[in-house]
Amino acid sequence: MTEPILQIRNLVKTYPNGTQALKGVSFDVQKGEFLVIIGLSGSGKSTLLRCINRLHDPTSGEVLFNGRDISQVQGEEVRTIRRKIAMIFQHFNLIPRHTVMSNVLMGRLGFTGTVKSIFGFFSDQDKNSAMKYLELVGIKEKAKMRADNLSGGQQQRVAIARALTQNPEILLADEPVASLDPATCHTVMDYLREVNKELGITIIANLHFLSLVREYATRVIALKGGEIVYQGSPKDIDEAWFERIYGVGTKDIRIN
Ligand SMILES: Nc1ncnc2c1ncn2[C@@H]1O[C@H](COP(=O)(O)OP(=O)(O)O)[C@@H](O)[C@H]1O
Ligand SMILES: [Mg+2]
Repeated sequence: MTEPILQIRNLVKTYPNGTQALKGVSFDVQKGEFLVIIGLSGSGKSTLLRCINRLHDPTSGEVLFNGRDISQVQGEEVRTIRRKIAMIFQHFNLIPRHTVMSNVLMGRLGFTGTVKSIFGFFSDQDKNSAMKYLELVGIKEKAKMRADNLSGGQQQRVAIARALTQNPEILLADEPVASLDPATCHTVMDYLREVNKELGITIIANLHFLSLVREYATRVIALKGGEIVYQGSPKDIDEAWFERIYGVGTKDIRIN
C-alpha cells in the first residue's frame, strides 16, 4: 500500500480558555478518499480541519502530510501548506462586491506577488486556470457577475473554483452545504464528488446529514467530545451506532 496522504497522530487541541476540543485523535487518509467527519455540534469537527491546514495550531501530536510533520511549521511554510490543503466554508467567504472571476483569482494569491495581484496583474495562465475551474463547477457564464448577486449554491461553487486554482492535493470542506436548501445541497455535493473523482483531489468534509454521508462518503469518522467514536463505512452506521455517536436515537433527532 502506498503512503497515506495524511497521517494524524495523537492530535490534541486545547484552546487558551482551557476547552479540550481534540483529545488525542489518530487516523490515516489515503489519497483519493472522500472522507466525511460527523458528530454533534461542538464535537471538534471544525477544530480538526483547522488544525490540519494550520488555521489553528495544534497543542500536541503530529499531522504528517505526505510523510512530513506539518503540525509545527512556521511562516512561509504555513502558506505553502494552506495552498496544498485548501478549504471551503459554510458561509462561502467570498468578497461580496468583487466579481466571480476576481474571487476565483484570489486562489492564485499565494503564487502571484502581492503587489502585482493588488493591481490585478494576473497572468493569462492564472486567468485560464480560473476559467477552467469555473467551467468545472458549471458557472463559467457568471464570471463577470458580482459574487453577492449569486445564489448560495452558486457562491459555494465559486468558492470551490477558488480553492481549485490553488492546485491543492487535499480539499477540506467545513459544513459546505449547511446553509443551502436540500436540492442545492445535492448539486454542490455532486460537484465535490466530481472534484474528487475527476481531479483525484482528496476530500475531507464535515457534514451534518447522514443521508448525504451515505451518498457521498467513501469512509466516515465520527467525533464525540473530541475523540473518535466510529471509523468505517457509512453503510455500517445502524441505529445503535447512531445512538452512540449522537447520544439519541434517529427518531428523536432530525439529523437524517
Ligand atoms: N476559538 C475557540 N476558543 C475556545 N473554544 C473553542 C474555540 N473554537 C471552538 N471551541 C470549542 O471547542 C469545541 C469544539 O468546537 P468545534 O471544533 O467548533 O466543533 P464542531 O465543529 O464539531 O461543532 C467546542 O466545545 C467549542 O465550544
Ligand atoms: Mg463546526
